[in-house]
Amino acid sequence: MRPVIMPIYGTRPEAIKMAPVIAELQKSDVFDCKVVSTGQHREMLDQVNNLFGIEPDIDLNVMRPNQGLCGILTRTIDGLDELFKEEKPDAVIVQGDTTTVTAGAMAAFYHSIPVIHIEAGLRSHDLFSPFPEEANRKLTTQISSLHCAPTSVSKQNLLNEGVNADDIVVTGNTVIDALLTTVEKQVPFSDPQLEELAASGKQVMLVTTHRRENQGDAMRGVGRAIARIAKANPELQIVLPAHKNPVVREAVLPALEGLDNIIVTEPLAYGEFTRMLSLAHIVLTDSGGVQEEAPSLGKPVLVMRDNTERPEAVDAGTVLLIGTDEERVVDEVTKLLTDSAHYATMANAVNPYGDGRAAERTVAAIAELLKVGKRIDEFGTNA
Ligand code: UD1
Ligand code: UDP
Repeated sequence: MRPVIMPIYGTRPEAIKMAPVIAELQKSDVFDCKVVSTGQHREMLDQVNNLFGIEPDIDLNVMRPNQGLCGILTRTIDGLDELFKEEKPDAVIVQGDTTTVTAGAMAAFYHSIPVIHIEAGLRSHDLFSPFPEEANRKLTTQISSLHCAPTSVSKQNLLNEGVNADDIVVTGNTVIDALLTTVEKQVPFSDPQLEELAASGKQVMLVTTHRRENQGDAMRGVGRAIARIAKANPELQIVLPAHKNPVVREAVLPALEGLDNIIVTEPLAYGEFTRMLSLAHIVLTDSGGVQEEAPSLGKPVLVMRDNTERPEAVDAGTVLLIGTDEERVVDEVTKLLTDSAHYATMANAVNPYGDGRAAERTVAAIAELLKVGKRIDEFGTNA
């Protein structure tokens, strides 16, 4: 009997980053793979599953409108508890820092199932920012058996917290595997406005926002800043695929109404989003995943946060942390639009987060953990 590995995921970014690992497990001849979706997200998760052709074997369907953190946690743990009473995989995989991750790790741990944590060791060193993700990551670290750290920085964070070096493997981030295989397809946009924009050759600023700690006043200020930038730069086209969270939409969208050079869309399917990323001149975001993808395409990224658990691209000069202050957002975008030397220093393509082989390294490390194979070279060893 082959060991059964159970990837558990629930939100858009987890799905994107788990997809290459699921593909690698499905082609492996040493493992069986049983895929579990918690359904913490619905439309945004289904979009990714459809793109990568993943049909979860089990879907806990936990999403509720305006859900609270405790509700996601308890519904997920209850669902997994029932599942693990019926069937016990040889290991579960969780990815990242969402509430699905902590719930998945806890439920598995309580059933004495080994937990493999992908994207382990990211730390902002501020327990309350990003909230609740920094706590989710640290809690998951405590109960994981294998820590797949994307970079040597994240490995060092784990070592500093006393994690055994033998239980850590540096894989690169699986988001780069997903990005590289997706962006090259240059898929058509389903919205004709975006196809027209791509043909026009206009400068594009791509914007995403959703972080819980930015919701409310900070996000309203971001909305006002985007509107001011649009008015001051009529030749610039701003594209904002809006997160499904109504709290986000209510905060950021009212200020953008009636401005011809702002296109607000539904969340873009991953293929379309990565194409828009490759067309963009500037990226303004508070997303974790976008901070990892944009540098790899050589796009300057202004991050609307005060800290980051992803310092590698900041050190490389491609990412700048600017917070959410309205004036600062306007000033930093204006500087990139007007100061070509500044733009050129930030527009360097760098790949600190991966080389496209993270899923392969992850599955090899799982094989070693379960004594059915050996690890391969780590990410960065030949850099
Ligand atoms: C969650 C994660 C966050 C991650 C983000 C990625 C937690 C605590 N937060 O935040 O770490 O960065 O996903 O996007 O785990 N909604 C829909 N349809 C969807 C998705 C969301 O309608 O497909 C709405 C629902 O009303 C839902 C709300 O958005 O209640 C918030 O979703 P939730 O998963 O709780 O929080 P996110 O802000 O998406
Ligand atoms: N993304 C997408 N469509 C969109 C916006 C983002 O496919 O309209 C992708 C993006 O390429 C990245 C991921 O979603 O891989 C980031 O998700 P999000 O910002 O929701 O979460 P975070 O990474 O901050 O946890």
